[in-house]
Amino acid sequence: MSRVELHRGYGHEVFRVWQTAGGPSPDRLIWPLFVVESPRAREPIPSMPGQFRWGVSRLREALDKPVAAGLRAVLLFGSLQGGKDPFGRKADADDAPVPRAIRALRTAYPDLVVIADVCLCSYTDHGHCGILTSEGHVDNDATVRRLAEVAVAYAAAGAHAVAPSDMMDNRVAAIRAALDAAGHRTTAILSYAAKFASCFYGPFRDAARSAPAFGDRRAYQLPPGGRELALRALERDVNEGADFVLVKPGLPYLDLVREAADRVPVPVLAYQVSGEYSMLLHAARAGAFELSTALHETLTAFHRAGARAVITYFAPQLVAEAAVRLAVRSEPGSHGGRRTPLNRLTTRRGRPLA
Ligand code: PBG
Ligand code: ZN
Repeated sequence: MSRVELHRGYGHEVFRVWQTAGGPSPDRLIWPLFVVESPRAREPIPSMPGQFRWGVSRLREALDKPVAAGLRAVLLFGSLQGGKDPFGRKADADDAPVPRAIRALRTAYPDLVVIADVCLCSYTDHGHCGILTSEGHVDNDATVRRLAEVAVAYAAAGAHAVAPSDMMDNRVAAIRAALDAAGHRTTAILSYAAKFASCFYGPFRDAARSAPAFGDRRAYQLPPGGRELALRALERDVNEGADFVLVKPGLPYLDLVREAADRVPVPVLAYQVSGEYSMLLHAARAGAFELSTALHETLTAFHRAGARAVITYFAPQLVAEAAVRLAVRSEPGSHGGRRTPLNRLTTRRGRPLA
């Protein structure tokens, strides 16, 4: 009989929050961050206004305020300008951006949950998420072996969780076995289980410099209409040892967040992806709605659908707003500094939300 180990899904206090149903709150937000080789870099990402690629020695500039305001989790991606090869060797090199960032963040912020995305597309010269055969197809099993190596390196650097986003078959089992064999028995796996081939990843590929040099990802990411495939992928990944599963993109696939939450016995997280970020930002800038109002409505929708946490590039803004609200409430004469759920925030005009 295969072992079913539950501890790693609730060993950290933030994971325990995610094990419990609830509405929007700062400890249910995860901020995705891009890290680069040049230590002092702070590069604006043109397709994602307000987001930057960070050098490892400037990460405190990115995170001091959000962490002080209540941010509890980050998701790390590497972005390289050169040095790519067919196997993505820079994914897990000791001096590569992600392992260095993991170590730096674990030292700087002892209470912050550090999650590392596991994929090869930022590191391969062809920009695909796996190792290719000589005919240019993805070699599933060679890829899975390589992903397991990368996951072990991130766990060794101190990641609380690894998040495979490659969509290869059976990588969760391979990663779990490799982590166990290397003694990383408490490292959680957050699987991008229901990840669809989506145009909403466009800005991300700009940020991570990870667009495929030829072809597309439709042979490994799910077809947008593929409900049954998504359900099978979710179930498969849970059976292989995923501690948390992800549905991605977010709002366009909210039906699957609900179905996953109803069907799979692990917490379901939603990813409000780069294209959703840019869409909301540009719509707000064009005067379509007030950004903060729209963001809180999307968060309410994710939690209504059953998400236990949301990965969003808006996380710093959202925790900052929550902290301001908290400070106002704890002023003398107000009704105390009780924790405010994010959906009880007011807009700048003072209207209550949701
Ligand atoms: C890499 C990866 C992607 C995203 C997360 N991990 C892009 C892709 O699959 O092409 C998308 C995240 C976003 O758009 O914000 N495998
Ligand atoms: Zn990838």
